[in-house]
Amino acid sequence: MVKIGNISLPEFPLLLAPMEDVSDPPFRAVCKDNGADMMYTEFISSEGLIRDAIKSRRKLDIFEYERPVGIQIFGGDEDSLAMAAKIVEVTNPDLLDINFGCPVKKVACRGAGAGVLKDIDLMVRLTSAVVKSTSLPVTVKTRLGWDDETKNIEEVAERLQDVGIKALAIHGRTRTQMYKGEADWTLIGKVKNNPRIQIPIFGNGDIDSPEKAVEYKNRYGIDGIMIGRAAIGYPWIFREIKHFMETGEHHAPPTIEERIAVVRKHLKLSVQWKNDVVGINEMRRHYANYLKGLPNIKEYRNRLVTIKTEAEINDVLDEIAVKYQGYEIDKTPIELINYHEKCPVD
Ligand SMILES: Cc1cc2nc3c(=O)[nH]c(=O)nc-3n(C[C@H](O)[C@H](O)[C@H](O)COP(=O)(O)O)c2cc1C
Repeated sequence: MVKIGNISLPEFPLLLAPMEDVSDPPFRAVCKDNGADMMYTEFISSEGLIRDAIKSRRKLDIFEYERPVGIQIFGGDEDSLAMAAKIVEVTNPDLLDINFGCPVKKVACRGAGAGVLKDIDLMVRLTSAVVKSTSLPVTVKTRLGWDDETKNIEEVAERLQDVGIKALAIHGRTRTQMYKGEADWTLIGKVKNNPRIQIPIFGNGDIDSPEKAVEYKNRYGIDGIMIGRAAIGYPWIFREIKHFMETGEHHAPPTIEERIAVVRKHLKLSVQWKNDVVGINEMRRHYANYLKGLPNIKEYRNRLVTIKTEAEINDVLDEIAVKYQGYEIDKTPIELINYHEKCPVD
């Protein structure tokens, strides 16, 4: 069993990574249904929370069925982060996560996110300010370092543990790498195997198949895996990895009925949580992902992204369910869920 403060997770938990514009409550719900053991909100600006920006506040919405769930904040100023932590605490998440890893320019260049990777003392001060201002377990998500010359994650891990974080998730890339190249898990393994490190270490980066998950678990000895892009349009990745870890066999891929059921649920929750117009609009980017691998799906997809009511969308989904009933997609999950090249954060 893995413990983060007072939160108990199963042995070798699979975590859904925080993803801006993706890991909102509707998406989290379908990942939870399919085996995600812990999930995070999209990152939330500490300044935005303090200003009471609507977008930031909205990201604080969490639901009982998602627990354990973490709220992720970012920021470059001690006082703001501490104050944001207090605002977060009121919404009663299971933990509070600080993002020191985001490579998006508008975040990194303001001295928040991965920008902090250039200044470990600052990172430690920011973290300490958050830990002191909240009774929630505080965790951190970060990258290996700023660039190839400053892969300082080993020192970072020790120092953040010393100021009281309860777990660390490491994405095996540097900031300057953005999303290019392969994630390098060697240093993640080193952090995990440092005898000084007592907190759980979660590995993150490029896990997109059950085989890879098992291989990395065995090779690097980490406490769990965090999955991001592979879950987009393919929340079944969690159950597939779990099943493979438990039995050594592959779980059957989702049937058309299961795919359509997930799309329907994602859509329904989007409309409920956002509203008709925004929910339907924002759902449009998900159809291609969910329906990937189905032959001649384009005509349906084009209709799905132009019609305007939930009822009409459900009608098209009915048609798809009938047309592709029993169809088996003859691609491996990796081919279906390889988002690396199109990653919107690149
Ligand atoms: C669309 C998108 C949005 C992301 N937003 C966040 C974020 O809000 N906070 C964060 O810590 N990381 C964010 N990331 C990084 C992911 O959490 C994860 O570290 C990264 O995608 C590598 O994992 P993967 O190879 O499993 O996708 C984002 C990644 C993507 C693709």
